[in-house]
Amino acid sequence: MQKNSALKPKSLLLGITGGIAAYKAAELVRLLVKADIDVQVVMTAAACQFITPVTMQALSGKPVFMDMWDSSVGNGMPHIELSRNADAILVAPASADFLAKLVQGRADDLLSTLCLARDCPLLVAPAMNKQMWENPATQRNIAQLKADGISLLGPDSGEQACGEVGLGRMLEAEALFALVNAHFTPKLLAGKHVLITAGATLEMIDPVRAITNLSSGKMGYAIAQAAADMGAIVTLVSGASALNAPSNVTTIKAESADAMYNAVMSNILSQDIFISVAAVADYRPAVQHQDKIKKSTSSLTLELTANKDILAEVASLPNAPFCVGFAAETENLLAYAEAKRQAKKLPLIVANLASDAMGSDENSVTMLDKNGAHPLERAPKSTIAKLLLAHVASML
Ligand code: CTP
Repeated sequence: MQKNSALKPKSLLLGITGGIAAYKAAELVRLLVKADIDVQVVMTAAACQFITPVTMQALSGKPVFMDMWDSSVGNGMPHIELSRNADAILVAPASADFLAKLVQGRADDLLSTLCLARDCPLLVAPAMNKQMWENPATQRNIAQLKADGISLLGPDSGEQACGEVGLGRMLEAEALFALVNAHFTPKLLAGKHVLITAGATLEMIDPVRAITNLSSGKMGYAIAQAAADMGAIVTLVSGASALNAPSNVTTIKAESADAMYNAVMSNILSQDIFISVAAVADYRPAVQHQDKIKKSTSSLTLELTANKDILAEVASLPNAPFCVGFAAETENLLAYAEAKRQAKKLPLIVANLASDAMGSDENSVTMLDKNGAHPLERAPKSTIAKLLLAHVASML
């Protein structure tokens, strides 16, 4: 089994300062822990007015630190010990006051002291009222934080707890989670152009009926997100899928196999990598009825016409990008997948059982290339996506 060597577990120190957005930090910790990121929470005294350390301890699975003089830390120096163990520090929410402290390099509580003592990247997610955000003092501080190499995540614009509408509220937990993930992902595909197809195709029979399949799009969307996190310029051609478009990805909707073919072909020339994850219908109705077919006979025969094989056509282009196929099978998994790899002339194909893959958040796959089989143990699709892309990067 290939282990997750490309994905060393990461540890994040999450600092929480005083602001109503502190409630979003609870959801953020849940998402981080679920993604196997080790989270150590540090709270300021003001943060404890908004959310309790017990909540954060329960979600992170670790005691929360608040005090400079905490005697439970081995060397008696929590500010050094905690920042030394972190791969990154995220302060979310970061209040206007805390940002000002960072600018001045003040160290009058545990969180500000360990930020000053850090030897790792610092990310801050500002959260404040719109007037506080727009105040020239805050804007001066923001400019200085950027100049100091501190990464700003947000703020977001919208309705605020104080009733104002505007810039200043903290990004949602999901958005912060995506940005932390991107921060921790090695940039193995920096500058590469990657085109991915995902989801099911929909072949209309009449205006209300279609031939489709059970693909959810989760694997293809996870690959698109992971490729963007690895620094690639990603285009996602999506068939039918209920998923939200990944961040930092150009998403083109193309629901029929024919529309998907056109979308792929008009974008393929600039691509370095093509990953064909979509479950493309092999056939479409020979006639697409303009009006709903009425029930009139005891049986109905549909004539089907073959669709183009998008992946095979891309792989046979004169300057074809590096092509990766997927094979979802119900039997003879590796033999069928390897036969497809050779028939479509692909450097790499990913074999998975339809029962393992379709609709699930997890997958269990085997990558097949000219050197043989590389199985990946069952894992969330986001993890499979990163391991697959790390393998692609190593083959380029
Ligand atoms: N594929 C494609 N266009 C098609 C059919 C398939 O691009 N019209 C791609 C899929 O995205 C996948 C690979 O080809 O990456 C294998 O698809 P699959 O349907 O399993 O293979 P087929 O060649 O159609 O074989 P079969 O349906 O007989 O198993």
